[in-house]
This record gives sequence, structure tokens and C-alpha cells, in this order.
Amino acid sequence: MVLDEDITVEGGHLVFDGVDVVDLARRVATPFFLFSSRRLRRNVSAMVEAFTSRHPDTEIFFASKACSNLWFLDQVRRAGINIEVNSGGELWKAQRVGFAPWQIVFNGVAKTRDEIGSAVQAGVRALVVDSVYELERIAEVAGALGVSAAVDLRVDVNVPTFTHPGLVTAHGGKAGIDLDDALAAFSFAFAHEALDPRGLHLHVGSQITGIEPYVAAVGKGLDLIEAVAAGGLRLDHLNAGGGFAIPYREATVCDPDDYFCAPLAINDYAVAVCGVIARRRPDLKLMLEPGRSIAGTTALLVTTIENTKVKGLRDAAGRRVGDECWLTVDAGSNTLLEHTNYGWYFRSVAASRADEPADAPFRLAGPLCDGGDVFAGDDDTPYRRFPAATAPGDVVVFFDVGAYSLEMMNPYNARPRAAAYAVQDGRVVPIRLADTLDDMVAADVVSGRPVLPAAEPPGED
Ligand SMILES: Cc1ncc(COP(=O)(O)O)c(C=O)c1O
Repeated sequence: MVLDEDITVEGGHLVFDGVDVVDLARRVATPFFLFSSRRLRRNVSAMVEAFTSRHPDTEIFFASKACSNLWFLDQVRRAGINIEVNSGGELWKAQRVGFAPWQIVFNGVAKTRDEIGSAVQAGVRALVVDSVYELERIAEVAGALGVSAAVDLRVDVNVPTFTHPGLVTAHGGKAGIDLDDALAAFSFAFAHEALDPRGLHLHVGSQITGIEPYVAAVGKGLDLIEAVAAGGLRLDHLNAGGGFAIPYREATVCDPDDYFCAPLAINDYAVAVCGVIARRRPDLKLMLEPGRSIAGTTALLVTTIENTKVKGLRDAAGRRVGDECWLTVDAGSNTLLEHTNYGWYFRSVAASRADEPADAPFRLAGPLCDGGDVFAGDDDTPYRRFPAATAPGDVVVFFDVGAYSLEMMNPYNARPRAAAYAVQDGRVVPIRLADTLDDMVAADVVSGRPVLPAAEPPGED
């Protein structure tokens, strides 16, 4: 049985990029993430090919917020693309794995003076400016350092998108400069000696399942670049951000209201974006910041079922009207925060029974004390379908967890953040160690020195 070119079933076990995940789960502690460097390289090549074959002057900056593990970033760098960072910490990581300053674009909606100072001093390709206030702040910091800061202005081009409300960034979202203020902001930037305006940035959100928002946003972006040019000022690029959707749910026909079901491939987005640019400004450099569409499909989460029970379903009068079988795995929102944070759906299979029909309904939960730590069901039901005999000891795998997962792990309920491994050149190598108990308390201080002098006792008068 073959599920995709790297995911197969052999001897009843799920095999990922040649590795029997059940066998691996018997040798190392679960839960763990398993990445594939082959899939990562393939995703990068597909992205580069899709855009540069249609618009040769395209540069891709991997959005490191999607996965900033050092092994992963190193693989991205070796695959030949650049990097987008969203904080001083991500800038530090990018430099640490060897990205050159010209390969780094610095985003963020609340940059501190220190972050601005580090980015300007590093000489990053561009600081992407989120507001007029921030533009003035960057001018001030760069001026004090005696340098000129390369900037892109992030503008909310007011294009509606359909995605999870938590992933909307423009058109009522928090990011970017209002379109009405954009021309004045560009004029200010061009006039200031400590600012070196280079481009326009317009990321519109994440897991955007259609091309319409891109066509509309790039069109409005080009209008603005034209308006800037009419004032005699030249911008060298348009950064269209990321947001290309990946299919978390399998379906033959996608319901347009279901953002987990993504009907488009990278080529479709490339045709749309490059088409608008080819018609109006074939000479303009295009920059992109994809995260999810590069990292998402590169990893699985491997878990073990630790508990099971049958609980009655009751009607309003308390009468038992049916039964539900619960399975509890050893990873919940501590390991896969998105499943509760955004109610995200990640496909799953019982990897140790991968050749049995998945025809029995189960409620699937994580190990945390919270009632909300329950995984969304398949097909808009509360239930996941697994083989009827699925029980404690079986291995359950969640797919497409490579983006926004390692980043968001937390040690809630004093559960160690999970390890991660990667299949690289046919071997399984560790790329992140699980927290030890000591790691979980390393930042706690039981008896510290006061940070302020003791308050004077109130006077007697
Ligand atoms: C400015 C910016 N660029 C790029 C991205 C990456 O988006 P995605 O992972 O959906 O491609 C994000 C994430 O929302 C973002 O805020």
C-alpha cells in the first residue's frame, strides 16, 4: 500500500521516507517528531521551480517562524533559499546557521529598539516596517548608529481572505500600515537620510486556500508602487509574503468553507502571482516568504496510546443512549498546540495497524488535565476512525506537523517538550532532544536576590 511517494505501509506498519515508524517508536521514547530532509528539499525545489520558471527574478525567503529548529534552518540554507525572521531571536538563529545578512528579511509587528539595532547593524536585506510609528523609530535608531536602514513598508492592501480567523493578518487584521497612509509613509522614508526604502510588503495571511486574494493583493500592491513611482521614487521589489495553503484534510471535492482542504498546488499560486506581475511589471523583483508550504509536509508526530475507556452518551434526562470509546495518546496541546489553540485538524492513522480497515469511531484525546485537550474528529464528526482493535500500546501518527509545531511546544503539566528526529541520507538522526526534568526547571528561581529595595514601612504620623 502506498499513501504518497514517501509514506507506505509494510508488514502492517507505517513507513515514512524508508523508516518503519512503529519500529522506531519501540526504540526511542514517544512522543517524537520525525522529519524528512528529502521532503524538505523537494518542497524547496518545487517552490523555486514554480516561481522562477515563470518570473526568473524571484527570491524565496523561508518564514522561519514555521520551523526554526537549527537542523531545519541549516537544511533550508543548503537547499539554496533565503530566510525571513520575525524577532531578534530568529535573527540570531539565522546568523547562527550561516545565513548572510543579504539573505535575511526582518519582519515583526512590535520590534524593540534593541531588535532594530541588531538588524540594522547586521545589515539585513530589509527591515519590514509595520507602522508609521515604527518607521520613525527605525529612522531614529539607524540615525543614532550613523547608518541608513534598508526598509520595506508592509501595507495592508485591504484584501479579504478566507482562512482561520487566527491567521488573518490584513483587512481588519493587526498587521501593516493602512493603505491610506502608505504614500505619505513612502515619501517620509525616501526623504529621510537614515532610511533606504527598497520595497513594498503585503503578506495577507496564512493557509490561504484560493488565488483570488493574491491576484487582488498583488494588483493593489502594483498600483501603490506605480503611485510611488509617479512621485519620482523607485521601489525595487514587491514582497508578496507567504500563506500558500497545504491540504490537511483529504477530499476529492473541497468545500469552499473548509480551509483544511486546500485544492491548489504551488504551481497554481505561481501562475496567479507571476501572471499579474508579468502583465504589469515584468521587470520588478518578486520576493516571497513561504513557511507552511515548505515545512508542513516534512514531518510526522509519533505517539503511543496510553489509556482507553468506554463512556456512556446520555440524553438530557441522563439516560444512557449510546457509548463512546476514548483513546488517550501521550501528546496533546503541549506537543501540538495548534490542535487546541486554533482547533487545527491533523490527519492521523494507527501506524501499528496500518493495513487494517479504519472503520471504528473513537474519541481521541491528549494527556493533559484540560477537558479541551481532545483532537478534532474526522469529517466534521467528533470521532477519529481507526481499526476496531486499536488499544493502548498502539502507535498513532499525526501527519503534516512540520510547520508551527516544534515552535509552539510547551512544558505544560510538567511534560517534557518532545524530541525530534530526521531521516537524512537513509539514517535517523536526532535534531532536538526531549527536555530533561532539569531542563524544565532550569529557569525557575526558588530563592532569589530582590530586584528592588524593600519598601519602607508606612510612617506613624
Ligand atoms: C510576515 C509573514 N510572512 C510569512 C509568513 C508565513 O506564512 P505561511 O507559513 O502561511 O507561508 C507569515 C505567517 O503568517 C507572516 O506573518
